[in-house]
Amino acid sequence: MKTLVTIGRGGTGKTSFVALMAKCFIEIGDTPLLLVDADPDQNLGEMVGVDLKEKGKKTVSELLVETFLEEGGTTVGVAPTERIENKIWTHGVYEGDYFDFIALGTKWVEGCYCLPNAALKGALESLTKNYRYVLIDSPAGLEHLNRRITSKVDDIFDVLDPSKKSFAHVERAHRIAKEVKTDFKNFYVVGGFRFPESLEGKAEKSSKHEFLGKIAYDEAVEEYVLAGKSLLELPRDSLAYVSAKKIMEKAGYIKR
Ligand SMILES: Nc1ncnc2c1ncn2[C@@H]1O[C@H](COP(=O)(O)OP(=O)(O)O)[C@@H](O)[C@H]1O
Ligand SMILES: [Mg+2]
Repeated sequence: MKTLVTIGRGGTGKTSFVALMAKCFIEIGDTPLLLVDADPDQNLGEMVGVDLKEKGKKTVSELLVETFLEEGGTTVGVAPTERIENKIWTHGVYEGDYFDFIALGTKWVEGCYCLPNAALKGALESLTKNYRYVLIDSPAGLEHLNRRITSKVDDIFDVLDPSKKSFAHVERAHRIAKEVKTDFKNFYVVGGFRFPESLEGKAEKSSKHEFLGKIAYDEAVEEYVLAGKSLLELPRDSLAYVSAKKIMEKAGYIKR
């Protein structure tokens, strides 16, 4: 199992990149995948065509609240980690043909419940063992690195926007990830769809981290998002998809 996480400022294209990475893995049959929406905005579901509510599923934070705050999870015989893991399996995981999907939800992201957090970590660790890849879509900002739901990560993809700040973001994110001892193997930098080509040289040279390329601007992505259509259904020659494939090649996930 490998865990891949996107980070970056708001609107840089993190969520759509997660959907495109999923599409890459699905197309080459490198599955099963677990997609994790860790952003309280929760738009990864829409980008991969999953409406949890409609499927009768709940977010992990809803399940945590039910299990530990409403039902008093500490007193019952079964260990907290196991209880929440069972709950997530039965009520939190959307199971699709090519990928499964869970959303962490807002309550958990906002709150700070030590027992649920610890239990959740344990549950996620064992839950994710069943997959080939776990792709995590993070919220903007870096606070979530502190919470370390994802303490073992293989690749971090920092998606850049066109601003100068995003170069500063790279350095800060890398430092924080180290400071909170997130155990990651690779820290990659990716140009977001609005990242200008003219800055690619700078990204390659100035950064201490490997620059994998740029996600192409693609009108079809905008149209699909507006129409609420799954990005997994983009045509194979879609500019954004083709560029994402190149990025995944460079990161060693797809053979040429
Ligand atoms: N490759 C792309 N080409 C054109 N527009 C894009 C592309 N990727 C994302 N967008 C547009 O930008 C918006 C924000 O993208 P999103 O992936 O949600 O960013 P983030 O998760 O970083 O906030 C999307 O709603 C979509 O309209
Ligand atoms: Mg997002």
